[in-house]
Amino acid sequence: MRVLGFETSCDETGVAVYDTERGLVAHALHSQVAMHAAYGGVVPELASRDHVQRVVPLTERTLAEAGLTLADLDGIAYTQGPGLAGALLVGAGVATALGYALGKPVIGVHHLEGHLLSPLLDDPKPAFPFVALLVSGGHSQLFEVEGVGRYRLLGDTQDDAAGEAFDKTAKLLGLAYPGGPALAKLASNGRDGAIKLPRPMLTSNNLDFSFSGLKTAVLTLVRREAQGGDPSALPEARKADIAREFQAAIVDVLVAKSIAAIDATGHRRLIVAGGVGANVELRERLRAEIGRRGGAVFFPDPAFCTDNGAMIALVGALRLETTHVGDYRFTVKPRWPLEELNAPVSLR
Ligand code: KG4
Ligand code: ZN
Repeated sequence: MRVLGFETSCDETGVAVYDTERGLVAHALHSQVAMHAAYGGVVPELASRDHVQRVVPLTERTLAEAGLTLADLDGIAYTQGPGLAGALLVGAGVATALGYALGKPVIGVHHLEGHLLSPLLDDPKPAFPFVALLVSGGHSQLFEVEGVGRYRLLGDTQDDAAGEAFDKTAKLLGLAYPGGPALAKLASNGRDGAIKLPRPMLTSNNLDFSFSGLKTAVLTLVRREAQGGDPSALPEARKADIAREFQAAIVDVLVAKSIAAIDATGHRRLIVAGGVGANVELRERLRAEIGRRGGAVFFPDPAFCTDNGAMIALVGALRLETTHVGDYRFTVKPRWPLEELNAPVSLR
């Protein structure tokens, strides 16, 4: 089964071909980060318009790289949700039109299922079951993954997602959007323990997260130390100390909750997905602490931690092998709880 997949749920246009025999064949990505940076965040209307411009050239590039033509495809997949409605409609519309023209099946894929199964793009693949820590701009969640289509939410954020907290705190420190990578870079110049920030919900008796208080603590600190809360009034070294402590607080909480999820489920494997999974400090701490407990931690290739078409083509291929899809009507689901998917699908 050879499937062309489209990801257009937010600010990345991703296109890829996944083959159930050969694995990932080719992929191409365009990030809109530079376009949205001027506005300090994603502007949904601009995102949709840019997807429209990028999707066909990226498809041509992907097929050329794969050495394939449209006639070689067995099916088409697109991100059906969750995400920005207008942006989702671009991928859904193009995928459905293409499938209709080719007479091939078209399937809508859940974006988070893409992230959760993205470690299967690697060789060797982690075996099921595993615990998944999904940390992105929109999500901070822990799932138990027993197989394709068998997901149980173990913990969720009560307010900001981890990536969102990185981005908002970076903004408070005067760093450009998206602030996560910039804040991590600044943190590498900071000193451990120079200031103290809270570890929200570290000792709560559940697997939920809360990060908005951490951001507020940084806001209070910046307001106290810099005139009018203007971060440019803070010395670089002070900002680096704040960034280091902020990152340490988030990493402490993510590591503690991941370990608690492993203990609660009895599974040995943890996979980390989503953009914050690119954070080096998080990777090192998880590797050390889970390794010490005899467990194993898997990180998708950093290119597949953030949004991409490969994970959508992968899930589309796995699902099209066992799912009958009907006509070419389509909908998008800007809000779509992952657990609605729970129906076992066999993996070949
Ligand atoms: O998964 P993703 O590309 O997009 C979605 O939100 O779906 O994740 C993007 C998020 C942003 O909030 C970004 O700041 C954060 O991941 N991020 C990082 C790092 N790289 C990306 N956060 C901390 N450290 C990083 N190295
Ligand atoms: Zn994502």
